Amino acid sequence: MSRIVIVSNRTPGKGPAAGGLAVALRKTLAEREGFWFGWSGRLVEQPSSEARFEDVDGLKVAQVDLTRQDHHAYYAGFSNSILWPSFHLRLDLATLDSTWYEGYRRVNQQFARALLPLLKADDIIWVHDYHLIPLASELRALGARNRIGFYLHIPFPTADTLYAIPNHLDLMRDLSRYDLVGMQANRDVAAFTEFAEHQSPASISGDPLQSVDFSRTEVDAFPIGSDPDAFARLAVSPAATKMVNRMRRVLGDQRLIIGVDRLDYSKGLPQRVEAYEKLLTHDARFRRQVHFLQVAPPSRDTIKEYQETSETLDSICGRVMGRFAELDWQPLTYVKRAYGQPSLAGLYRLARVGLVTPLRDGMNLVAHEYIGSQNPADPGVLVLSRFAGAAEIFDAALLVNPFDTDETAEALRLALDMPLDERISRWQTLMAAARAHNIDDWSRSFLDRLAPASRNGSGTRDILYLASVA
Ligand code: F6P
Repeated sequence: MSRIVIVSNRTPGKGPAAGGLAVALRKTLAEREGFWFGWSGRLVEQPSSEARFEDVDGLKVAQVDLTRQDHHAYYAGFSNSILWPSFHLRLDLATLDSTWYEGYRRVNQQFARALLPLLKADDIIWVHDYHLIPLASELRALGARNRIGFYLHIPFPTADTLYAIPNHLDLMRDLSRYDLVGMQANRDVAAFTEFAEHQSPASISGDPLQSVDFSRTEVDAFPIGSDPDAFARLAVSPAATKMVNRMRRVLGDQRLIIGVDRLDYSKGLPQRVEAYEKLLTHDARFRRQVHFLQVAPPSRDTIKEYQETSETLDSICGRVMGRFAELDWQPLTYVKRAYGQPSLAGLYRLARVGLVTPLRDGMNLVAHEYIGSQNPADPGVLVLSRFAGAAEIFDAALLVNPFDTDETAEALRLALDMPLDERISRWQTLMAAARAHNIDDWSRSFLDRLAPASRNGSGTRDILYLASVA
């Protein structure tokens, strides 16, 4: 049976995860032989040339240390100040510093050199996310012939935006070195296909650049999901109930609106609070009747644009508090910290409205988790950005344009006024969709496509793989 090697920037650790990646993949690797490879979280004087294995709650994890300088150029620099904003169509927030690309490339080379000696010939390698686009090229340059797949957790940019990214042609050539490239949504595959079919950028000298050959790379949408039934159980667990009771004491009869996001400009948090402000402004009957809880664990807070988003949000929340709070009523609670999954599941179940309004998002697992956590007899309503990948799956949610705060305010009103029978029928459709896109099927379908032999070919590998996923 082929082993699975998962590679990502961060490796799974202990404590609550701010993003969905760690939660999603831990389960896949627990079912297959193999290991996880990535950065150790340590910054050192000399980069490690060999990986160290560690046992993390029964999971084999191989890690390398990075130098502070390389890490800065690779993570805060090229990955999160160029690729992240551009892929989210925020070129206005990108910092095009030409020195970062070298560090990005160097870290990918370091990963490849440390990973190669750990590989067996038939290992299947699954690389995750925009930090590691060049990894297949670097591994292949060192002689790796394995099947290598890449999954992009964030949206793929439009062709015009892609042309604005320095070294975009190298990056696209790097993508062509994978056997399979997975994206979150059909819109991402369409954007990729548009680039692949119409690539004709000119160089500075005006000469057309050599185009990239994607003939050996399969590209398809594999929308990631969650485990909605696990969230249903978690939402009524003792830990969740404890949190719910605590929150109920604060809420009394007020209905809860909840938002849970990393503190990131792509999540549309200022626009969301503004929409809530408009709800309270235009419809006074909701004052003292609703409460908005926004959980926003800080993220990438060494980067200026993230600090600015945090300050903007502080100021908007302060404004709404100042405008509407009374001695015995507060319109909102804003907490800048992470909570564990049981607490969140309980809060999702308690909330009449799940407000998930990113300006652009790969998928958004909060939408999945909110749906999974609902009480089937009295479910809440999901208000969802049409620019989240999740909108392709959850069309029974109230879909909004998050830039249009009037529209979001109106969706909030509709959600709060929605009769029980409509809430139930919408939720049943959403829950069926969440089940149909569960996390197990996601990883299975990606791996099946990446290494069909492990299911359809001959030999013991198939049988063992089928047994392992049964
Ligand atoms: O959603 C994209 C993503 O990179 C996830 O893979 C990750 O879990 C999350 O954002 C958090 O990002 P970071 O590792 O930069 O804190």
